Amino acid sequence: MHASLLLVSALAASVWAAPTYPQVDADAAIPDNIRAISEYFNLLASKVQDSRILSTPPTCDLSQVSLPAAAAGLPPPSAGLTLKHIAIGRGTQNYTCDPRNSTAAPVPTGAVATLFNASCVAATSPALASVLGRAALHFSLPQSASARALSPSNLAVSGRHYFTGDGVPFFDLDVAPQRPLGAIPCGKAGAMAAPATAGRGLGGESAVPWLKLTAKPGATGGLQEVYRVETVGGSAPATCSGMPAGFEVQYVTQYWFYAK
Ligand SMILES: *[C@@H]1O[C@H](CO)[C@@H](O)[C@H](O)[C@H]1NC(C)=O
Ligand SMILES: *[C@@H]1O[C@H](CO)[C@@H](O)[C@H](O)[C@H]1NC(C)=O
Ligand SMILES: *[C@@H]1O[C@H](CO)[C@@H](O)[C@H](O)[C@H]1NC(C)=O
Repeated sequence: MHASLLLVSALAASVWAAPTYPQVDADAAIPDNIRAISEYFNLLASKVQDSRILSTPPTCDLSQVSLPAAAAGLPPPSAGLTLKHIAIGRGTQNYTCDPRNSTAAPVPTGAVATLFNASCVAATSPALASVLGRAALHFSLPQSASARALSPSNLAVSGRHYFTGDGVPFFDLDVAPQRPLGAIPCGKAGAMAAPATAGRGLGGESAVPWLKLTAKPGATGGLQEVYRVETVGGSAPATCSGMPAGFEVQYVTQYWFYAK
């Protein structure tokens, strides 16, 4: 896709010294998400300005980075833990329905997502990370086996998220062999509705709740807690009316990983 190639180099340049100004390609007009993309370019432009003024490359130091202010509705990270990684997850929330019962609510059955390393962009430019999540929902869903980078950015794959056979949310951050961060089976320890400003999904559905998850036995790499924040889309319709027995709703989110 032309647009993704175009934006890849733009994001790579956004926070480093001597950035190249993004070029707008006429082929890249994408009617559905032109607003998300132009917001993205506006932010990018202001970040390029910032980095020129600062004239030093920003660091990707996560030690001073805190969860978005709106996450105050969740229990805070436990004392003694440090932020190890921030990923943008792009995938689907799965639901089942009783097709014979149009008043029943869809039942969540899990999620599958590819995780992309957003540590640097979220640390240096939370607003850009947030807009990137919204824009990414409009680009094709990465096939877990082949995805290399998160369109429309150059963010590299850093992990996989899925539910185990017994329905336990699981994050595998050992996919980059040179930088294994561990793996964490976990369970819900807190939830709050996504803020009203959260991005809507491809069908206009609301964003899935923000969550705090804590480790179940078997976690490695010292991983202890995971936050799901900055969610975009992913919610099921209120009822099963017109829905099949199983269906998927696309979503994007940020996952924040804390470890001992
Ligand atoms: C349909 O779903 C509603 C809401 O969950 C429930 O109250 C009702 O008993 C269900 N009806 C049937 C026939 O299963
Ligand atoms: C994420 O990217 C940063 C900056 O390039 C790098 O230092 C870090 O090791 C990466 N983490 C993973 C898990 O790939
Ligand atoms: C849930 O999502 C995965 C990945 O997209 C898919 O393979 C699976 O069949 C889905 N399950 C249901 C019940 O739709």
